[in-house]
Amino acid sequence: MTLMIHSVLLMAISLNMARCRRLTEDIDNEVSSNPAANLGFRDPMEYVKIMQPPVPVISKKVGAHVELFCEAIGSPPPTIQWYKRNMRITENDSFDTNMISQTPGLAKVGSRLVINYVLPRHQDVYRCVAESGVQVATAASRLIVSNKEGREMNFTQLINAKILGAHHIPRVTFWASTFMSNIGTDVILPCRFVGNPKPNLYWLDNNNKIIENDERFTILPDGELRIRNILWTDMGGYTCVVENSVGEDSIETFLYPMKESSK
Ligand SMILES: *[C@@H]1O[C@H](CO)[C@@H](O)[C@H](O)[C@H]1NC(C)=O
Ligand SMILES: *[C@@H]1O[C@H](CO)[C@@H](O)[C@H](O)[C@H]1NC(C)=O
Repeated sequence: MTLMIHSVLLMAISLNMARCRRLTEDIDNEVSSNPAANLGFRDPMEYVKIMQPPVPVISKKVGAHVELFCEAIGSPPPTIQWYKRNMRITENDSFDTNMISQTPGLAKVGSRLVINYVLPRHQDVYRCVAESGVQVATAASRLIVSNKEGREMNFTQLINAKILGAHHIPRVTFWASTFMSNIGTDVILPCRFVGNPKPNLYWLDNNNKIIENDERFTILPDGELRIRNILWTDMGGYTCVVENSVGEDSIETFLYPMKESSK
């Protein structure tokens, strides 16, 4: 692990790629500051860490729009789920873990929990849960609804007030900001989103050209971009754009193909 990170770090420095350097330094610091990673208590290839937890406490009024953001780094590329107390509120298939586990990748991923219209019942503790293989890291956030007395609404009221079914600007809710994997492997770059009406999605490649499906590049039904057999020349930023009649959102994933010899 250390050897691999070291050679990746050297490559990143020689190419003067600030973003990759930051990522590998994060990982390097974590490995050296976490003795368990080197003592065989767990598979050193599997590790996950929350890099940016959601705000610990947030206070909002009924009707407000709330977003909680959580960022994690890990190997294999982590998934992020959100829990309200002990109930999972995001789907658990936000990443094709079977395919991902075949690639020894590292990734920094971000997730947003979006609440378009806060109701009294939303006051609770929300947990961001990041998982890489068997490794898990979590961080919690408490949402306080400051003026909730008498403002709860049932289903009929939500429909009548046009809160349910309202149009919302798209937001990407799960993506990787950096993704590193060995040359020759297949990668799946996630791009989960919300929005009403259902947004259209497209990806731009590292030359800002719209990606059409071909033998190597495929946009999967849930929005992920799969790139087969990654090449050194695939390095660069890939942009996922989601748009509907209300607006658009986009994220960028920096793909860093690593030399096979760095294993
Ligand atoms: C997703 O959740 C279902 C139901 O809770 C569970 O049976 C399944 O194993 C989960 N899949 C993954 C990949 O965690
Ligand atoms: C929703 O609340 C309204 C106003 O309090 C009430 O008249 C109505 O019966 C409720 N509907 C349901 C389905 O509970």
